[in-house]
Amino acid sequence: MTMTATPAKVEKPTVAAHDSVLVLDFGSQYSQLIARRVREANVYCELVPGTIAIEEVRARNPRGLIFSGGPASAYAEGAPHPDAGIYALGLPILGICYGMQLLAQQLGGVVEPAERREYGLASLVVDEAGGLFDRMPPELPVWMSHGDIITTLPPGFRPIAHSLNSPCAAMAGPQGRVGIQFHPEVVHTPLGKEILRNFLFEVCHCSPTWQPDSFIDMAVADVRARVGDGRVLCALSGGVDSAVAATLVHRAIGDQLTCVFVDNGLLRRAEADRVIDIMSRQRHIDLVHVDATDRFLQALAGVTDPEEKRRRIGKTFIEVFEVEARRLGTVDFLAQGTLYPDVIESTSRDTHHAHKIKTHHNVGGLPEDLRFGLVEPLRYLFKDEVRQVGLALGLPEDMVWRQPFPGPGLAIRIIGEVTRERLETLRAADWIVIDEIKRSGLYRQVWQSFAILTPISSVGVMGDGRTYANVVAIRIVQSDDGMTADWAKVPYDVLGAISRRIVNEVPGVNRVVYDISSKPPSTIEWE
Ligand code: XMP
Repeated sequence: MTMTATPAKVEKPTVAAHDSVLVLDFGSQYSQLIARRVREANVYCELVPGTIAIEEVRARNPRGLIFSGGPASAYAEGAPHPDAGIYALGLPILGICYGMQLLAQQLGGVVEPAERREYGLASLVVDEAGGLFDRMPPELPVWMSHGDIITTLPPGFRPIAHSLNSPCAAMAGPQGRVGIQFHPEVVHTPLGKEILRNFLFEVCHCSPTWQPDSFIDMAVADVRARVGDGRVLCALSGGVDSAVAATLVHRAIGDQLTCVFVDNGLLRRAEADRVIDIMSRQRHIDLVHVDATDRFLQALAGVTDPEEKRRRIGKTFIEVFEVEARRLGTVDFLAQGTLYPDVIESTSRDTHHAHKIKTHHNVGGLPEDLRFGLVEPLRYLFKDEVRQVGLALGLPEDMVWRQPFPGPGLAIRIIGEVTRERLETLRAADWIVIDEIKRSGLYRQVWQSFAILTPISSVGVMGDGRTYANVVAIRIVQSDDGMTADWAKVPYDVLGAISRRIVNEVPGVNRVVYDISSKPPSTIEWE
């Protein structure tokens, strides 16, 4: 094994061929959503810190800028501001909420606390049609969330819409600089997408050329340029991201890629076979399959604490992966399925999102002499775009639309000790949940649907006999991003079918309960 001389630096994709817009993030919980909406309109978009250096903006050559909302007041001490030199670039700018107030204040207007905070649905009256409000009705519902208002507009600006509490709910000025007090990116502003499109096409005059599929050629070229004739290693988990990343890298460099699939024995039924079938037999990717079930089960013997389970699984994974990596000899790069939201979380200083840590997939725990250069072909994509890319690459729908599955697998869905027998019980119940949820057409509508094996035994009666057996819990949730979630209001007959089948078909289970907790205060997983 040789250590690569290249530090873990990643390349930028060749987006020069596409018009792009930058979202300057001032800490709004909706910043990512703005970037997604822009991309959905087929314009490439990146989210960058609100305090980005002017040279960086220039280097990216955007057609326009969007200032996001944010929790601060524009006039408060320490509130994040863009570099004042940004206005000299002469680019069109859309300020949203706090972004609008920044724009107003920095260009010579006045922002003050409002007498009444405006939060929730409001009715927007359009005072000037065209431009941002091209093809809009005279009045439309919008989502407001602000405590400050603009009391004096900057020179050259005019109000173009108002609401009951905001005499200036939208403004327009020279050089395509516009501001809106409401949030066009959230679903509660039904025409919000159209307003964003108007900014992109009527104000910035962007061409809608960005497609997740067109990303493939770009990513392939980038991977080739970065890797040269080096060798790349990729850890497959069975999930969508690593499968799409590996497939893309394989398309770029063929046999220079070797995938390692560490089967931890904690996957769902048939999952391991499917990974091998799709990646190795169908796509002819060089795949090393390591069945490490015994090793993982040994590491988990006697462990009941959830965090200890995670630690041991993570540690065992690194140990097994390391042996395989060393066996391969010289490896120059590690390919990972890192997505854009993870990149944003670690680079955007003004984003205050909670950080979701996926220790299991992060091979950062490798020893010093096994640190490779990174190839992260998906680092500019959102999850839904990764799915589209996966489909365009010919991966089966089944794999591409797979629900999220935690790295530690079924181990954190067996409350108490993980044993071979309990894994088999949970696998059988889990299979039925997925089967029935797919049959009812709900699989893609819910975020996750799964079974948990509780440590409780309960009394039941089967035939003429008394039973004393396991209780299985069912968890089905709806969520946009896993950060918050609500229990799914699944029809009773679907729940009934799941319960009936589990009790009839899974030995050792005589009772099924449905988890009706939301996140917060509960979490999605039980451990
Ligand atoms: P919680 O249980 O925190 O889960 O509400 C939120 C989302 O994260 C997944 N999850 C994990 N994923 N390693 C992972 O890769 C983990 O240790 C882990 N714990 C939770 C969970 O399935 C849900 O989608």
